[in-house]
Amino acid sequence: MVSPLKADLAGPRIDKGLDDIYVKESSICFVDGQRGRLLYRGYDIRDLAAHSTFEETAFLLLQGHLPNREEFEKWKSDLAASRTLPPSVLRLLRSMPEHAPPMDVLRTAVSYLYNFDPERDDTTRAANLRKAQRLVALFATIVATYQRIRKGQRVLRPDPRLGHADDFLRMMTGKKPDGVRARMIDVALILYADHAMNASTFAATVAASTLSDLYSTINAAISTLKGPLHGGAIEAALNAIETIGRPEAAEDFVLNTLRNKERVFGFGHRVYKTYDPRALILKEFAQRLGEMNGDDTYYRIATEIEDTVVRELSAKHIYPNVDFYSGLVFHGLGIPTDLFTPVFAVARIAGWTAQVIEYWEDNRLLRPLDWYVGPKDLVYTPIDERP
Ligand code: CMC
Repeated sequence: MVSPLKADLAGPRIDKGLDDIYVKESSICFVDGQRGRLLYRGYDIRDLAAHSTFEETAFLLLQGHLPNREEFEKWKSDLAASRTLPPSVLRLLRSMPEHAPPMDVLRTAVSYLYNFDPERDDTTRAANLRKAQRLVALFATIVATYQRIRKGQRVLRPDPRLGHADDFLRMMTGKKPDGVRARMIDVALILYADHAMNASTFAATVAASTLSDLYSTINAAISTLKGPLHGGAIEAALNAIETIGRPEAAEDFVLNTLRNKERVFGFGHRVYKTYDPRALILKEFAQRLGEMNGDDTYYRIATEIEDTVVRELSAKHIYPNVDFYSGLVFHGLGIPTDLFTPVFAVARIAGWTAQVIEYWEDNRLLRPLDWYVGPKDLVYTPIDERP
């Protein structure tokens, strides 16, 4: 006999938002929200930002350890070799409707790519790790290539001699970045590469828990990242800075936003109750880019917003999150606003795939409950007798 569900016996505790619910053990990423610390596989994000590269960090997340020289050279050359799009995916990108949002294009391309993966139906861990590597490589090319296509510009082929982040920016903007800018995009990708059980990773994990395929889990993640409470906040934060226009107007903008009970995008976090360590690194980059580009207006607006939000909301533990200054950095690197969230995805693909592959090591279908509060025992009325 099926035993009655526990939740039916008495009103359950409803965990709206799933705050404080743990769904798995993980050795990938540790977020210490009280102390503002972030670790990938035990390494502090500040050390990785100072010394690592995106390729090395992606290896660390997926393989579980820092590569030795031989492993790293092979990983880098495999990644570089995988950056080339299959011709049919290139045709797909060319056939996308004009003005298709880049996040949606990325999602469509991932669905399509699945059919060209030589190991599509191999669900072993080893095959999934190889698929993950191909996805890490291809995300950069998809986003950069679509940008060229929609601007009517010549599509640039990947250059295997360049680093992943460097080549990504070159394929997108048509210009090889100088050393400082190349390092900034590389570090930004490191900072975005994973963040434990965030909303998009959870969406991917739910899909994974049904034993769906790796590509489908990533599409669930992309769809979830798009929302303005998650990755979409980068774009919303920069839009606010553009709307404000001058530093003197920032304080009033924030106060009005709060008076209207609206959110200031790029602030607050479910886990961090202090400064997000990634925001501190990106803030420095934003300042430096303002100086290098000879216009620090946006940076000054941003710091005014930050000062006002922190003054007004620090009692609620609201501080800048990663998405606040990253928009300024991406903007300063010449990346258009509607590509900010796709750039986030270009980095997070490493974390999504690592997390899903880890979940499959001890899979359990994720299937929560809802508490039914609707009517019961209604009598069915034939359609012509209904009022
Ligand atoms: N602006 C103004 N008030 C805020 C903000 C904000 N950005 N964030 C939280 N609050 C207030 C909120 O109004 C509430 O106040 P009260 O208790 O008086 O009702 C209190 O702080 C707690 O808010 P919450 O919604 O219960 O907190 P949460 O854990 O659900 O919020 C969040 C997390 C990220 C959804 C929220 O901070 C937010 O909406 N931020 C703006 C969007 C954003 O920047 N998202 C990026 C998140 S981090 C990176 C990523 O995942 O992409």
